[in-house]
Amino acid sequence: MPRIRPRRLRGTPAMRTLVREVEVRGSQLVLPMFVGERSATISSMPGVRRHDLDSLRRAADSAVAAGVGGLMLFGVPDDADKDDAGAQGLAPDGILQRGLRALRDEVGDSTVIMADTCLDEFTSHGHCGLLLPDGSVDNDATVTSYVEMAIAQAEAGAHVVSPSGMMDGQVAAIRQGLDEAGHDGVAILAYAAKYASSFYGPFREAVTSSLQGDRKSYQQDPANRREGLREAVLDLAEGADMVMVKPAGYYLDVLADVAAVSDVPVAAYQVSGEYSMIEAAAERGWIDRNRAVEESVTAIVRAGADIVLTYWAEELAGWLK
Ligand code: PBG
Repeated sequence: MPRIRPRRLRGTPAMRTLVREVEVRGSQLVLPMFVGERSATISSMPGVRRHDLDSLRRAADSAVAAGVGGLMLFGVPDDADKDDAGAQGLAPDGILQRGLRALRDEVGDSTVIMADTCLDEFTSHGHCGLLLPDGSVDNDATVTSYVEMAIAQAEAGAHVVSPSGMMDGQVAAIRQGLDEAGHDGVAILAYAAKYASSFYGPFREAVTSSLQGDRKSYQQDPANRREGLREAVLDLAEGADMVMVKPAGYYLDVLADVAAVSDVPVAAYQVSGEYSMIEAAAERGWIDRNRAVEESVTAIVRAGADIVLTYWAEELAGWLK
């Protein structure tokens, strides 16, 4: 007969609550949101919408009321407004900047407004940067565009800019550019370890991306764990205020590695595919949706995330109140 019985600590709900190691808080959840010229549903992401400026304001109010900690905004220009350079991503009146202004006007400082700082939604070829004649992404020219984009976002009211293009040196350059433009109070959430993942599939529908080729020359190889840590350490040295691992659920080892060394808050992005898989399985009655939602986010927090970006942020924050 065993003398040591771990089951003693699982016997009643009260005992389980007493010994619980982590608990998800609504205030640590960030809701990714899409803004376009008109509102639309996203067939591969049931329950998620692309907003126009008016519905964006209403949705932001509702998320803030539910208790989320922040909003991450992505801009979705009309196809006619996309070009090789992604110019609308930098324009003061581009859709993302108009969305940021609407958000800041609507919710002020009552939540943290974050902007995706990347060109892929705005380029006709769908890559995260400017292309060289041979079709590869030009790192340093792209970083120059990101700096301008980050300044436009800060001017439109973003509290946080979030470079997600995985260009070398992007964090240091954006920090310097923001500071020189007088935005030393705007924080940088660096997508430090971002993998070339199949789980971004539904997002590409959400932002009507027309990606030609793949992103493997700038996003990381899913096989590489050590490299994720290297990227995070570099971003910390470049001045990142927060670092992010993405996707989340399949990269918990990378997340735990980063959390172990980071001296700034660590975020993880539960991406579109992670969302859609659970929604699709639940729709078929194959899993218990609400339990799977909470479990998936709890696992990300357990692995070391201080902040979780999730399309369930509002709903989950509501449950956790
Ligand atoms: C790039 C970006 C992407 C996502 C967030 N930022 C797409 C990509 O890198 O291909 C994906 C998010 C998701 O799948 O939910 N701007």
